Order: sequence, then structure tokens, then C-alpha cells
Amino acid sequence: MRILVTGATGFIGMRATNYLAEQGYDIIATGRKKIDQYGIHSNIRWQHGSLDDLDFCLALTENVDVIVHCAGKAGTWGSYESFYKANVVITENLLAAAQRSQVKRFVQMSSPSIYFDFKDQHNLKEQDLPKYFSNHYAKTKFESEQKVLLANSETFKTIALRPRFVIGAGDNNVLPRLIKLQRSSCVQIGSGKNEISVTSIGNLLDAISLAILASEEVMGEAYNIANAEPENFWDFAESLSSRFGTTHRRVKVPRYLMLTLSRINEFLARIMRRQDEPMFLPVPVAALGQSMTLDTSKAAKRLGYRATHSTEEAVNEFIAWYKEHLPSANNKQKRFSSFTEFWPFYLEHHQNPTNQALHIFGFVLALFVSIYALVKQESVYLVGIPLITYSFAWVGHIFFERNSPATWRNPFYSFRAYFKMIFYLVCRRKIP
Ligand SMILES: NC(=O)c1ccc[n+]([C@@H]2O[C@H](COP(=O)([O-])OP(=O)(O)OC[C@H]3O[C@@H](n4cnc5c(N)ncnc54)[C@H](OP(=O)(O)O)[C@@H]3O)[C@@H](O)[C@H]2O)c1
Repeated sequence: MRILVTGATGFIGMRATNYLAEQGYDIIATGRKKIDQYGIHSNIRWQHGSLDDLDFCLALTENVDVIVHCAGKAGTWGSYESFYKANVVITENLLAAAQRSQVKRFVQMSSPSIYFDFKDQHNLKEQDLPKYFSNHYAKTKFESEQKVLLANSETFKTIALRPRFVIGAGDNNVLPRLIKLQRSSCVQIGSGKNEISVTSIGNLLDAISLAILASEEVMGEAYNIANAEPENFWDFAESLSSRFGTTHRRVKVPRYLMLTLSRINEFLARIMRRQDEPMFLPVPVAALGQSMTLDTSKAAKRLGYRATHSTEEAVNEFIAWYKEHLPSANNKQKRFSSFTEFWPFYLEHHQNPTNQALHIFGFVLALFVSIYALVKQESVYLVGIPLITYSFAWVGHIFFERNSPATWRNPFYSFRAYFKMIFYLVCRRKIP
């Protein structure tokens, strides 16, 4: 059987690609960015491109039996159009191409974010939809899911999975955000009693397998997927940060107060036309202080789903992966053996646009001072140059990027990377 996995450069798609290849399926993996994953399994063939392009989708789906559609845009920031394009349009293209290429089955990675309603929600069932969707992500995920389910027919079988809070090795979203939040804040939102469902990636992969093989009468529907037992959110967050040695005494703050502040923050960020996603937005803030658990009995009954992988297992594999792959994971600056190894680490520490702007500002000011010192033949001014560049960079790191500068353990690489980054930013070139 030949399976096309979309979003294979992302967390779930990548794990699904490798898992299904291990099961012996013939896999076509697709995503936009080029990644270092070639040749892991001989039965995976990569085809890069954007699913915005219908012709590309048609080429991809040729001779494919099943599509596992994991591509999409998650998050809480961005225009409705950007979410619509990344979640609805690409799904429409893929559905059209699949039907033309006579693909037999379509498994859609949907999301329980569609249930989110700014209140405690326990044992949510698949039909428990809110009156209004909480943000563009939820709305467009629901729209795309409905298109998939409505396409279900005698010859083309479709199904949607709604996994909550997927965790495991490769997670670049849920747990990294939680770690960042735990490091930068000592606030506990709400009573601390809220419970959440999480999904170990192993359980989601089992659910994908079941969906691929499920009998025809259970198709055309959406299914909640989660681990067997919910977690107390704050205990879960605290045990995760203790693994990195960063536990805090937490100050309890009422949920309504944080929600009001986050709405003000969202309003200001919108009028300032902020491009990058602010940390403090209503949906994530509310999610930290409220319960959201899923009832997975429909998946158990109709798909035969059993959550056999524990949360602990997924957290352990995540931590091992995170420490190896993200240099900042240990919260220490390690030594690097080459500039090529150092460069991704440097970029990871310079993501914030205000921090980047402050680096450029410090650089330009230092350039003027050097020219002035040369023209005036006053070398004493040169002493001020490191002071100027460092002070702007430090303000950027401490107040905006909220990390420590990458300089101390790697002064020479850092110096070189500083010039390289400034060059790309000033020339407005895409940073490699
Ligand atoms: N992670 C969770 O907890 C969770 C929970 C419920 C549902 N989901 C859903 O599961 C899916 C995968 O999530 P994830 O965590 O794996 O996300 P991710 O790591 O951000 O991966 C998203 C993938 O989508 C691809 N993509 C986006 N737009 C594309 C386009 N126009 N053409 C081709 N590829 C495109 C990306 O490709 P490039 O990076 O190569 O551009 C990437 O491979 C998403 O639809 C998400 O809504 C996730």
C-alpha cells in the first residue's frame, strides 16, 4: 500500500512517516523545507513543494492509496487569510487531487482546539462544539475537517482525528513552549486544579494506523484521541521544569485578571501590527488556567483505539530529544567545535525582531563612532565601541528575547555570527 504523508517536515508528519515506513508501507513524504531525513528508511520517497499548488498535489497523489494529511498552520497569531490558506485551501487542493487520482482513503489531522470555549470543559465529546470558535486556528481547522468529512463517499473514505496536546520526541511546539513559559514566569493562573488531556505520540501513531485500516462503516467521522488519564496541568508543568532544574515558587493570579491583561496585550499587539506571535494571548492564557479533557470512548468503540503509551514515556523521549537537538535545552552555553555547528545555536538565540533591530542599531552607532574616531584621529573613542554594541545587544536579550547572550563561552564564533546576521538582516536576505 502506498501512503502519502503531508507535513512530513513537521513533528507529527515526520513521526508518522517513519512509523508507517517501519510498518512496511511504501511512503511518499512531503513538506516545503529541505531537511536532513533522507535515507532513514529505503521505502520513503521525498517530494518537496507547497500544497497551495494544485498541480503539485496532482503529481503527489498519483498511484497513492491513502493520504495522511498532517500539513497545516497551528498557532494563535496571524491573519485569518494566512490560516485559511494553510489549513483550508491546501486541504481543498489535496482532496480535489485525491479524488482525481482515485485515492481510496484520507486521514485528516484535525484538532480539539475547535472545542475551546474559555471555560472548564470535561470529557468533551465529538459533537460538543462552541457557539463561536476561539480564534482563526480553531475556525479554519474545523472548516478543513468538515470539507474532508463531507467528501466521504462509497469510493473515497475519509476520517478525522482530533488529538489533544501531542507530545514526544520531535515536538517543536507544545512542550518547548511550556518550558519557555515555566522559565520566564513565576505565575500560576487560576486555582492550580485544572486538568488537561495530553496525547503521547505513540498513541496518536497507533490511532493513525487504526484509521488507515478501519472498516468502511466507521469512516466519515471525527474521533477524539488522547492518553488514558488526564493530567493536572500545573503538576505536569512543574514536573517538566524540575527535569531542567527550574522550579519556582508560584504566585497564584486569578484567571479573569490574566485574561483581561492578555486581551489588552492582544489589542496593543494588533494596533502595533506585530508580526511575531506574542506570548501572552487570550487563548493560551485561558488554556493554562482551565480544564480541557476529552472523551475518547467513540474512538475506543468504533476504531478499537487503546491508549497504551503513557505520558511519562512521551515526556522521557521528548527530553532526550530536546537536550540533544536544541542546544539551549540545558540552559547552559555549550562549547562548539566549528562555526557551522555554532550558527544554528546563535540564530536560535536571535529570533525576536526587536532584539535583532537593537543589534543592528548598536552596530550602526558603533560604525559612526569608528568613522568619527578615524576622521578626528582620536583613538580614545574606539574604547566606547564594545560598550555601545554590547549594551544594545544585552537590552535586546534581557528584555525582548528573554535569554542570555551567546557570547561568553564562544567569543570568536559569536563575533563572526554577529556580523553574518547583521549582513543578512541589513541586506534583507533570507537567513540560511
Ligand atoms: N502538535 C499538536 O499538539 C497538535 C494537536 C492537534 C492537532 N495538530 C495538527 O496536526 C498537524 C501537524 O501538527 P505539527 O505539530 O506536526 O505541526 P508542525 O510541526 O508545525 O508541522 C506543520 C507541517 O505543515 C507543513 N505545511 C504547512 N503549510 C504547508 C503548505 N502550504 N504546503 C506544504 N506543507 C505545509 C509544514 O511544512 P514546512 O515546515 O516544510 O513548511 C510542516 O511540515 C497540524 O495540522 C496541527 O493543526 C497538532
